[in-house]
Parts: sequence; structure tokens; C-alpha cells
Amino acid sequence: MVSGKTKLAGVIGWPVSHSKSPVLHGHWLARYGIDGIYLPLAVQPDMLEQALRALPVMGFEGANVTVPHKETALEICDDVDDAAKRIGAVNTIRVREDNSLYGWNTDCEGFRRNLETESKWKATDGPAVVLGAGGASRAVLAALVDAGCPEVRLVNRTREKAEAAAVAIGGPIQVLGFEDVASGLDGAALLVNTTSMGMVGQPPLDIDLDALPKSAVVTDIVYAPLETPLLTEARKRGNPAVDGLGMLLHQAAPGFAAWFGKEPVVDRELRDAVLAA
Ligand code: ATR
Repeated sequence: MVSGKTKLAGVIGWPVSHSKSPVLHGHWLARYGIDGIYLPLAVQPDMLEQALRALPVMGFEGANVTVPHKETALEICDDVDDAAKRIGAVNTIRVREDNSLYGWNTDCEGFRRNLETESKWKATDGPAVVLGAGGASRAVLAALVDAGCPEVRLVNRTREKAEAAAVAIGGPIQVLGFEDVASGLDGAALLVNTTSMGMVGQPPLDIDLDALPKSAVVTDIVYAPLETPLLTEARKRGNPAVDGLGMLLHQAAPGFAAWFGKEPVVDRELRDAVLAA
């Protein structure tokens, strides 16, 4: 039951109806018996600043921000962490005691934790290949570099975008075109797809995996469909494969802990609840 003491949080997006975050946080709130609520908040782009400034006014603990607000949220927050600055996007906000807004990016941690939980991958295993250089890619790049990955090979259709991402994130990132993907895959310990290829309604990602060692972990941050053609292909040739849903689940945990005061567990029950929604 909602009362005057109920802790408030939510996800701000436009549109927001597709977001799985309310189900995810709602599941944890019920599991831990926390007096809290997590709402979908549909906010038009030109109203984002008013909406974020209203969070402390209305007693919210904080919020997630999603498409298309992540970049603007970075500008609006009073304070942001360094990784979020390099990535250029904030996805989680906490209202501090003085009513200021602190923003950070939990996609990095979500990406890394998903891989570490679902496979034997360690950042130090060897070079990583990242396909795509959009917003999601930047969080993956920061996660890899900050975890100590010795070399990241960033493959993108538009070279300038990849070069800009490499500069913003910093560290051992080398930019390649799709024509060089075979040399990129050679000796790699990890392959990550961050492009929209393979997503429902998009063309499949059509790359030759021949040069990729069979021990390399393959992951797709796309989770609709859960089993992308890339993951199917990887499993067929014997590579360990990790789907993208776990990244969504793991990126939610730090926000939940900050707002509701409980470190939540990511497990099969949570995954099933989100899949069923
Ligand atoms: P997100 O924020 O989810 O990462 P995005 O910023 O739109 O989404 O990035 C999409 C990525 O998919 C980009 O790297 C894009 O390549 P470009 O930088 O060249 O645009 C990549 N992408 C999408 N469709 C593609 C296609 N048909 N071929 C190759 N790359 C594609």
C-alpha cells in the first residue's frame, strides 16, 4: 500500500511505455517488502529540466533516465561521476540531502557484471572487439578500459564516430572498419555487438566469425530478440555466448540500492519476471 512514507523513484523517458524498469524494480520492491514505488514517467524532451528539478520538490529519491534523455540529463545534473562524463550520458540520478542531483552511468557496471556472472570472462583475458560506436558502445568501452582490458578493437561503419568515442573514453582503443573485422577478431577474448543489427526489425549482423578463437566470449547488448543471430552463430561454433538481458538487470541494481537502501540480487526469478512482462 502506498502511504506518505512510501519512497518514490521512477524512469523518465519519451516514450516510456516500453520500459521494463518498472517491472524490474517492482519485483525487487515486492521481494524485499520495501515501502517504495517505481513509476514510469513520460516526459517530453523539452520538459526534461523541469521534470528533473521537480524530483526533489516532490520528494523523489531519484530516477533512471532513458532514451532520449541520457545525454541532456548529464548537462542538467549538479554533479556527475567521471565515467558518465566520458560516456557523455547519465542513466541514474540520486537526489542528495541538499536537494541537488547526482548523476552517474550504471550501464558500465551492468555490462561488466553480466559478463562476469554469466561467463568465465575476465577483462585481463585479452583483446576485446566492440562492434558499433553509438551511445551504448561508449558505456561498454568505458567498462572494458576501466576493468583493465589490455586492448579494445572498436569496429564501426562511420570511422569518425568511432574515433570520437575512442578519444572521449581514453585508454587502449584502436579503431577499425568492418573491412578489417577479421584481423580484429584474431586472438580476441571477447566480441561485443552494440550495433542495432540483429535487433527485431533490423537486418542481421552479417560478419564472418572464422578468425575468432573458440574460447572467446560473445555477447550482444540487444535483448529483443534474446537469442540474436550472432549468439546462435557463436554457440554453433562452440563459443560461450551471453545475451543482453542480464546487462539491463545488472544496470538497475546500483540505482535501487541508492534509492531504497537495499542491495538487490539479480537471479533467475528476476529474469523470468522481466521476460514474462
Ligand atoms: P545506441 O545508442 O543504442 O548505441 P546509436 O547511437 O544509434 O544507438 O548507434 C547505433 C550503432 O549501430 C552505430 O554504431 C551505427 O553505426 P554508425 O556509427 O556508422 O551509424 C551502427 N549501425 C546501425 N545500423 C548499421 C548498419 N546497417 N551497418 C553498420 N552499422 C550500423
